[in-house]
Parts: sequence; structure tokens; C-alpha cells
Amino acid sequence: MDVLIIGGGGLVGQKLARKLVERGELRGKPIDSLVLADVFNPPAVSADFPVESTTCDITDAASVANAITEKTSVIYLLAAIVSGQAEAELELGYSINMMGAWNVLERVRELGTRPILVFTSSIAVYGGEVPDPIHDHSFLNPQTSYGAQKAIGELLLNDYSRKGFVDGRGFRLPTISVRPGKPNAAASGFMSSIFREPLNGQEAICPVDRDFPHFYLSPRKCIENLVKGAELDAADLGQNRCMMMPGRMWTIGQMIDAMNKVAGPEPAKLIRFEDQPEIQAIVKGWRFDLRPEKAVKLGLEADESFEDNIRYYLEDDRPGA
Ligand SMILES: NC(=O)c1ccc[n+]([C@@H]2O[C@H](COP(=O)([O-])OP(=O)(O)OC[C@H]3O[C@@H](n4cnc5c(N)ncnc54)[C@H](O)[C@@H]3O)[C@@H](O)[C@H]2O)c1
Repeated sequence: MDVLIIGGGGLVGQKLARKLVERGELRGKPIDSLVLADVFNPPAVSADFPVESTTCDITDAASVANAITEKTSVIYLLAAIVSGQAEAELELGYSINMMGAWNVLERVRELGTRPILVFTSSIAVYGGEVPDPIHDHSFLNPQTSYGAQKAIGELLLNDYSRKGFVDGRGFRLPTISVRPGKPNAAASGFMSSIFREPLNGQEAICPVDRDFPHFYLSPRKCIENLVKGAELDAADLGQNRCMMMPGRMWTIGQMIDAMNKVAGPEPAKLIRFEDQPEIQAIVKGWRFDLRPEKAVKLGLEADESFEDNIRYYLEDDRPGA
């Protein structure tokens, strides 16, 4: 198996790379090589098999052609700019999130090797007047440019799979929390920072109130699901290769209660509630009553409770963990 992670320098890409190194196999076969590609040279990951870090800009077809070769058997397409930035920089969003996906699919079509392609979509593809609850086959009605770009990526993935150019699998990721590192440009950034920063002894701002509900998954479960996603039998995917990745709905208040249970009452005192209308305008359009039946049936999993998300952060990611 020769695996390529495009967006291999990002949060999910780095964690996925470490998971693949730890497993050493995918789809029942040893991993012969792993390539991490990103606009910047991704941090190296050491393994018993060759791991290469390389630069690749998915907006540039020639750069994509260098990264995807005849021997690439599994591609993870994780590269994207996230919701806040895609909303602020329209052309950049379409060029990376839409044309980048197109460039990857076109390269694969040109090669004729029909690799597995795991694509990270987002629950931001849902929205507007579509009735609750949202099921896998609910109408995609994104209310942000980011969601629109992901929805287009899904359509392309399905069509290129139907034509037999690629064996595509698309997963609509819940919001990943608790996300380690620095805050990113995602409108959902506060959904991690209100836990991460207080757990590290720093203040954080929550721009929505305690009753705000949303749909979450821990980084640890997300990575496990992405591994399973590559291992699914194509025959089990049906005519729509894209589905929700399992997650769970929690309110901000429920998540703070979970943090109190795991880490005591002190961190929550560092959360300051402050209305931020631009953030609210984006996140309040997102759906939260989501039923990821297809992925659950296929063996993908959500976290048991938000206490798990807090524990995983403390075990896996807190500086000095
Ligand atoms: N983290 C979440 O909450 C979440 C939720 C829904 C969907 N997703 C999707 O999951 C994927 C991974 O998310 P993440 O949290 O790791 O994001 P991230 O921002 O940490 O990583 C994305 C990576 O893509 C790279 N990238 C950007 N433009 C590129 C380009 N032109 N060419 C090549 N690489 C480029 C970035 O440098 C970055 O390393 C993304 O597709 C994202 O849209 C994430």
C-alpha cells in the first residue's frame, strides 16, 4: 500500500499519519510508503517504512501530478481552507476547496489507476430550509461558501467514482473538538478553544450562549473513522459515496459540565461569554440534529460522551501530555 495524505501538515493529516505509522497496515496489507503533501513541507513522522514530506499546492495541476503517481493506492484528500477563511476570501476558497478537488480527481483519471480516495467533507453542506432531523440523504443546502465548496467536492467524488476513475469515500466531518494547537480561522474555532485554553490555564471567549447546540467528534475518533473509511468495501457504499461521519450533539453547557467532571471546576471559570455577531451568523446556520445512520451501520463511531473528548485532549494533546 502506498498512501498519500494531501493536507498532511494539518491537524487531521498529522494525526492520521501517526496512526498509520502505528498500524503499519491498511486494508489488510502492509503500508510500503507514506507521503505527506501540503503547501508547506509537513513535519516529518518517523516509521519503519519510508515516510516522505513534500510540498504540493492542489490549486496547481502540475504540483498535484508530482504528488500522485501510478503507485499511489490510497489518497486522503484533507487539504482545504476552513469556513471562516473561505467566507472571507471567496476566490481562494473556490480555488482550493473546489478546484483543488477537481485537480486531484483529474490527475487520478489521467493515470487510470483507480486508487481509493478518502475525502473530508463537512456537516456544513447541510442547512437552510431542509427539515430536521438531517439524514445522510437529506438535501445538501449549504449556507456558507465553504459548505458549497465541500458539496461540489462530494458531487465530483460521486461522479468520478460512478465513472470508475476512483474508488471514492466522502465523510462529512462533525466539528472536531477538542482541537489542539493554536486557534484556526474556522468559525467553529471557539468550540475547541473554550476547552483547550482553560485546560491550559488561559482565558477563552465563547461567542454563543450556553444553550447553543452543535455536533462534535474528538480528533481521536475522527482518525479511527478515517482509517475505517479507507478500509470499507466499495460494494457497501452504495450509489452515494458520501455520508456523515458519526458525532454527537452537545450544548456548550453540557460540554462545560463534562469538562468540570474530568478536570474540576477551575478551567470553566476562565471562559468569558461575549456575543460575536459575525461568528453567530455562520454557526447558527449549521445543523445539529444529525443522524449518521449509514456510517454507524458501516462500523464508524462517535464518542460515548464529551468527557471522552476532554480526556483524549488531556492524554493526546495537552502540551506536556
Ligand atoms: N477540523 C474540523 O473541525 C473539520 C470539520 C469538518 C471538516 N473538516 C475538513 O477536514 C479536513 C482536515 O481538517 P483539519 O482540521 O486538519 O484542517 P487544517 O487546516 O489543520 O489542515 C488543512 C491542511 O490543508 C493544507 N492546505 C491548504 N491549502 C492547500 C493547498 N492549496 N494545497 C495543499 N494543501 C493545502 C493546509 O496547509 C493545512 O495543513 C479539511 O478538509 C477540513 O475542511 C474539518
